[in-house]
Formats: sequence, C-alpha cells, structure tokens
Amino acid sequence: MLKVNSLVKSFGGLLATDNLSFEVEVGTLHAVIGPNGAGKTTLIRQITGETKPDSGTIIFDGKDISDIPVHLRSALGLARSFQITNIFPDMSTWDNVALAVQAHAGHSFHFWKDARKDPVLREPALVFLKQVGLEERADIVAGQLSHGEHRQLEIAMALATRPKMLLLDEPMAGMGPEESKAMVEILQGLKRKLTILLIEHDMDVVFTLADQITVMVYGRGIATDAPEAIRKHPEVQAAYLGEEEVSA
Ligand SMILES: Nc1ncnc2c1ncn2[C@@H]1O[C@H](COP(=O)(O)OP(=O)(O)O)[C@@H](O)[C@H]1O
Ligand SMILES: [Mg+2]
Repeated sequence: MLKVNSLVKSFGGLLATDNLSFEVEVGTLHAVIGPNGAGKTTLIRQITGETKPDSGTIIFDGKDISDIPVHLRSALGLARSFQITNIFPDMSTWDNVALAVQAHAGHSFHFWKDARKDPVLREPALVFLKQVGLEERADIVAGQLSHGEHRQLEIAMALATRPKMLLLDEPMAGMGPEESKAMVEILQGLKRKLTILLIEHDMDVVFTLADQITVMVYGRGIATDAPEAIRKHPEVQAAYLGEEEVSA
C-alpha cells in the first residue's frame, strides 16, 4: 500500500528523517514508534504532502506521490485524521459527517441540496458514525462531544473520504483510560477494512493492535518487524524499550 524509500528531511542541521525506508502491506495496521522528537510526525507530514522531503520517494498504491500536492494524495485515497479539523460545533455529529460525505462526493453531486437533509448523504454518514461508535451521539451537537468523542468524529469524517489508507498521529493523546479503550476497540473494528498507519506512544496499545512495527530513533528506522520480533530486537530494547519490560 505504501513504500517509503530512502526518505531524507532536515531542518537546518537536524536530520528529522534520516534515510528512512519501510513498506506497509495492504490491509495491515502498521505502527510507528519512537521517542519524542524521533521524527514520527515529520514522517506523516511527508506522506500527506504537508512537508516536502529533501530526497527519497513515497509510493502509494503503486503510484509515486512524492511530488504531488496534499489534495491529490487525498483524492488517491490517503486520509489523515487531523487534530484540528473543520468540525462545525453548532451542528449535530451526524450533520458533520453528512457534510464530509458531501464534500468528498464533489460538486457534481447534490451540491444544491442541504446535506443535512439528504438521505443519500445521511445514510453513509450513519455507517461511518457506527464504525467509530458514535451512532448514539448522532443527534448531539458536535460542540458538546467529549474530547474522546471529538477524536472519534474526526475519524468518521476521515472515513467519509473513503480512504484506502488512514494515517493516525497519536489518536489517544489527551484521553483518559475509558476513552483510550474505546479508541482501541474502534481501531480493532477498522483493522483489515483499510490500511492504517498508527503513531502511538502507549506500547500496550501498539503491541495489541499492530501487525508490523517500525521503530524510529533520531530520524532513522532501526527496525521494521512483527511485534514479537520487535520486542526481542536488541537495538530496539537498548534504544527505546529500555530496561522496562513490555507486558505481553
Ligand atoms: N518545522 C520544523 N522546523 C524545525 N524543526 C522541526 C520542525 N518540525 C519538526 N522539527 C524537529 O524535527 C524533529 C522531529 O520532530 P517530530 O517529527 O515532531 O517528532 P515526533 O513526532 O517523533 O515527536 C524534532 O527535533 C523537531 O524539533
Ligand atoms: Mg509527533
């Protein structure tokens, strides 16, 4: 689904991405872990097109997307769940997703109608709300959702673009244990339906969900492997997992 080849990105003298290469297989949940400042967010931004690499290539679904703009990557099926999205706080949760469905459908499709009333948009919107566990909150004004529910809504809006691959940068950030647990269940449900690249610092979450894990340290990819192999990898243990045993 995704192939990152010899990617390099520097900020002044700092190598945020240092000759990074890895592949993400179709239908897998692939986690990227690494300490703060390892270059995880910079990697995501290069995949979406927000940040331009100095060198290297990014192949998505067989196409070289290295030089194409953000909106075209999105049209090819790459979606990032943004922490700051264009959620309308005065509209219902359902209306927000219906508008995202309409936006994706494009101007040729029912643009003259009110998305909030059109069943052609509302029905798929409800499917996306169910996938993120928000169907019971469909009629709540989005501004009244909790922090965790807000993040769930952002994922529903990303799903409305019908992506092949979803990029998630620390989706549990700022969540309490109950909200995190709900998010893990949502990601379990989305797994296999589409390819997911997940950046997450909670190792229990990563080892629960991931099919493959790439470990980054100072911009370098020090290993890409299955969770069990990553757990045993000596360089990974030394550089990142440290003394602390990761619970099974
Ligand atoms: N726009 C930028 N300008 C300068 N330095 C940046 C910029 N973005 C990120 N960095 C630096 O690049 C390194 C990697 O950052 P980041 O990708 O945010 O790491 P992570 O997400 O793994 O915590 C950090 O040292 C950070 O300070
Ligand atoms: Mg980050």
